[in-house]
Formats: sequence, structure tokens, C-alpha cells
Amino acid sequence: LLIAGCGEEKPVKVGIESNFRPFTYTEDGENKGFEVELWKAIAQKANLPYELVPMTQGELSKAVKSGQVDMAIAGMTVNKARKDNFAFSDPYFQTGLVLLTASDNEEIKSKDDLKEKVIGTKSGSTSYIYAGGIQGTKEIRGYPDISDAYTDLKNKKLDAVIFDERNVHHFLQNDGEGKVKMVGEVLNKESYAIVTKKKNKHLGRINGAIEALGKDGTYEALYVKWFGS
Ligand code: ARG
Repeated sequence: LLIAGCGEEKPVKVGIESNFRPFTYTEDGENKGFEVELWKAIAQKANLPYELVPMTQGELSKAVKSGQVDMAIAGMTVNKARKDNFAFSDPYFQTGLVLLTASDNEEIKSKDDLKEKVIGTKSGSTSYIYAGGIQGTKEIRGYPDISDAYTDLKNKKLDAVIFDERNVHHFLQNDGEGKVKMVGEVLNKESYAIVTKKKNKHLGRINGAIEALGKDGTYEALYVKWFGS
């Protein structure tokens, strides 16, 4: 008698991103970041064997859609349009979008000062959609890699950048060289969740694990490690 795959669960393939610091990134050939460690903890709690598959954000939704990966954990904001096409786990991170401009820019103090301005952000991201909704801007430039938008802002090829708060923060602290500053309030409240195709059979277990990690202090410890108190 042959029982296929007897007892052994096939590892789930989990898409991560190679450049979304400090959440998920590849450095010295290693996958690092808050989300990489959070996922490890989730998988351990849920007793889910897995394999990480690093790629660009542009590739991630396609990979989930085509089944190349079973899910992705990569700063994916939950929104209505995505919910129509995908399923999400319970959210594990509350955040928002922020506005960046040159340190010596006296004109841009909030999103009300973006008339006739050129704004850079990541193509396909929620900030790209958000920027497109601001009245009177001159151009919204979408970059496949957000690092190139940051560079163009430093070199004054852009008036402003709009992007995810924690990534902006990380950039300011590590590569801003004092040339850029954050201005105004948090623009749009967002939360991150794991994205899968609809009806993914593992979501229940994953949500259970997220809840358990919140209760046993693991989540808090990871948060403090990556973001401070
Ligand atoms: N949170 C934004 C979004 O969902 C930006 C995501 C950036 N994530 C990434 N893996 N690069 O559109």
C-alpha cells in the first residue's frame, strides 16, 4: 500500500522582498528583517515547513497569483482592490505613508504644498495610488526600486517622495546624509498582512500563530529589536 506524501507536509513557498528595509531584504546572501523573523516565528508556532523565495515587489503579486509562491510577507498593505483579488491574514503591523522632501526645501511643509510638484514613489504601491489622488501635482513618477526615488530626491530631480513610514525612517537614518527630511503628518493609515490566493488552506493556522505571538511576547520582542520601543 502506497500513501502519497505520508505524514510529510510539503513546504509552503513564501515570497519575500529583496529590498524593503527593515522588513524584508537580502544582504550578504542572507534573508533578513523584521518580517523574515516574524515569519519564522509564525511558521514555528503553526508548525508549517516552508521555503523563502526572495524577489522584487513587482514580481510578488504575480507570483502569488500564478501559484509560484503560496503566499508573501513583504510589507503588503491591505486595501479594497487587493482584497478583491487576494486573501489576507490578520494584520500584524500598523503604519502609514509619509512625505519626504529636501532638507533645504522651505516650500513643502505638507501634502497641501504639492501643486505643480514632481513626486516620486514606488510603482504599483499604495503610495503611488495615494499620490495620484493629490490634486494639481505635475507628475507622479513610479520607480520599480524605491532606492532610486530616494537618490533622485537627494539629487533634486524630485520635489518630494511619498512612501511607507518605516522604510522612509530607515532610509533617513542610514542613507539620508542629512539631505532630506520628513514633513507633515502621517498621510494614510495602513496595515500590513500576509497575502495569499483566495481560500488558502493555511490562513487559519497562520492567524492563530499571529495571535499567539502577540500574547506570548514574541511579537513585542521582535518589534523592539527592529524598531526600538
Ligand atoms: N505597503 C506598500 C504597498 O503595499 C508598499 C509595499 C512595499 N513592499 C515591498 N515589499 N517593497 O503597496
